[in-house]
Amino acid sequence: MSIQEKLTRLQELSEEARLGGGPDRIQAQHDRGKLSARERLDLLLDEGSFVELDRFVTHRSSDFGLGDKKVLGDGVVTGYGTVHGRLVYVFSQDFTVFGGSLSEAHAEKIVKLQDMALKNGAPIIGLNDSGGARIQEGVVSLGGYADIFLRNTLASGVIPQISVILGPCAGGAVYSPAITDFVYMVRGTSFMFVTGPNVVKTVTHEDIDMEGLGGADVHASKSGVAHFAADSEPECLASVREMIQYLPSNNRELPPETASADPHDRRDEGLLTVVPENPNHPYDMREVIRAVVDDGDFYEVHEKFAANILCGFARIGGHSVGIVANQPAVLAGVLDIDSSDKGGRFVRFCDAFNIPLVVLEDVPGFLPGVAQEHGGIIRHGAKLLYAFAEATVPKVTVITRKAYGGAYDVMNSKHIRGDVNLAWPQAEIAVMGPKGAVEVLFRKEIAASDDPEAATDARIEEYRETFAHPYIAASRGFVDDVIDPRDTRPRLVSALDMLRNKRDENPVRKHGNIPL
Ligand code: HXC
Repeated sequence: MSIQEKLTRLQELSEEARLGGGPDRIQAQHDRGKLSARERLDLLLDEGSFVELDRFVTHRSSDFGLGDKKVLGDGVVTGYGTVHGRLVYVFSQDFTVFGGSLSEAHAEKIVKLQDMALKNGAPIIGLNDSGGARIQEGVVSLGGYADIFLRNTLASGVIPQISVILGPCAGGAVYSPAITDFVYMVRGTSFMFVTGPNVVKTVTHEDIDMEGLGGADVHASKSGVAHFAADSEPECLASVREMIQYLPSNNRELPPETASADPHDRRDEGLLTVVPENPNHPYDMREVIRAVVDDGDFYEVHEKFAANILCGFARIGGHSVGIVANQPAVLAGVLDIDSSDKGGRFVRFCDAFNIPLVVLEDVPGFLPGVAQEHGGIIRHGAKLLYAFAEATVPKVTVITRKAYGGAYDVMNSKHIRGDVNLAWPQAEIAVMGPKGAVEVLFRKEIAASDDPEAATDARIEEYRETFAHPYIAASRGFVDDVIDPRDTRPRLVSALDMLRNKRDENPVRKHGNIPL
């Protein structure tokens, strides 16, 4: 065979690999509102940057009629490319080939990529669209999943791992995404469940469809399994590109710094009035966040889940930061089971990847109630406390209003190694709110009074004057300064600049035992 003939053969095979399950199945994919595996990669990666690996791999099974059915690539496109010029590893499952199901060979391709990503210190992004374990390969495909789970676990905290769910994701297959750092879903076309609607009907007699059981909105708002829900695949993949910009490539790098035209010394007049005069009135902490970050850009994570705490990425003076903020507009910003889980996991991600933490605090305490107690608020709240306490990245807190009870300690207080702790003049830092305190301390006196309401009000006023301000904490050095709210951005920029070379370490140990 001449070199020309060999090149022609290579071209034919390349075309065959590119088409996966063929034009009809790609069309069927489009008819469902889904893109093909390669179209997704085109949207995710910088144009022309994708380099494919293992496109000639095929399965080795001969069972159940698979012997004469081989498709180049075996249902997953793997390789590397760039996002905004930075290296990432990617795999994209191809539903047009055996439903994207995972065979031994398919798993080996993903495992090879995971090993490369870990060795070379760059994020790995998985585009999942699969019918799960390849049924014809039995336990061999289950083993392939376990090989992937192991590497997900070993790579956790070393390189960022992102899962994008773009089709069915059922059974044990959900556990690879679940171990990764962030899960993206698309409304109407992506699903995650341990068992589908039919099994649910048989076992629990509940009637529910795929979307209701494990669709994007369910996981992004109720279960918290997904961090993002998008309306379309292009929107979803654009969002992944945005996320990458905030992250370092691995745990030994600092996150990228990005210059912005937003002046570092910009004061914000709006911050003077954002907190209502009545301490029981709500306000939207996002207004504070947008006022202090560069260009008002806040990349929110878990936006619809546990909305009483806000988590997300932003830049302040060019520094990539993770923001954790109580949200007084939802449940008065209390800490409950879900918000503790959400905040704790986000804090640990930031700490693992050298992303400084900025905390905006307005928290009346932990949510009381039988459901919370029986649901384990003690165990869950401890996660957030543990996460802040163990974090060694630069940690800055601004108390905008309430910092009551245990929640004061939890939200990156000075005592658990907050580096810079600031308070606005409206800050109320005490064991509990005025009403609760007065009811405990003066119950008998109020009961004996001729006018219990007036007696309560008088004691509340007295308590406010004595405790509901930041100056006791400031007099002990628990807050470093009480600041004019308008100066918050310049003070945050200054703190982050000052902490740029922070070094802190935890005791040597195999690993801690965070309450799970
Ligand atoms: C082999 C599979 C497959 C699988 C789908 N296909 N899933 N082949 N193994 N797991 C094939 C189908 O036979 C079909 O081939 C093609 O892919 C497209 O599938 P359809 O059923 O026609 O598509 P659709 O109607 O869209 O349904 C998609 C689906 C369904 C919901 C994913 O295929 C399905 O329920 N599949 C099985 C899901 C499942 O239970 N998987 C195991 C989960 S447990 P043809 O040639 O006919 O077009 C698991 C264990 C993980 O994964 C272990 C980790 C610990």
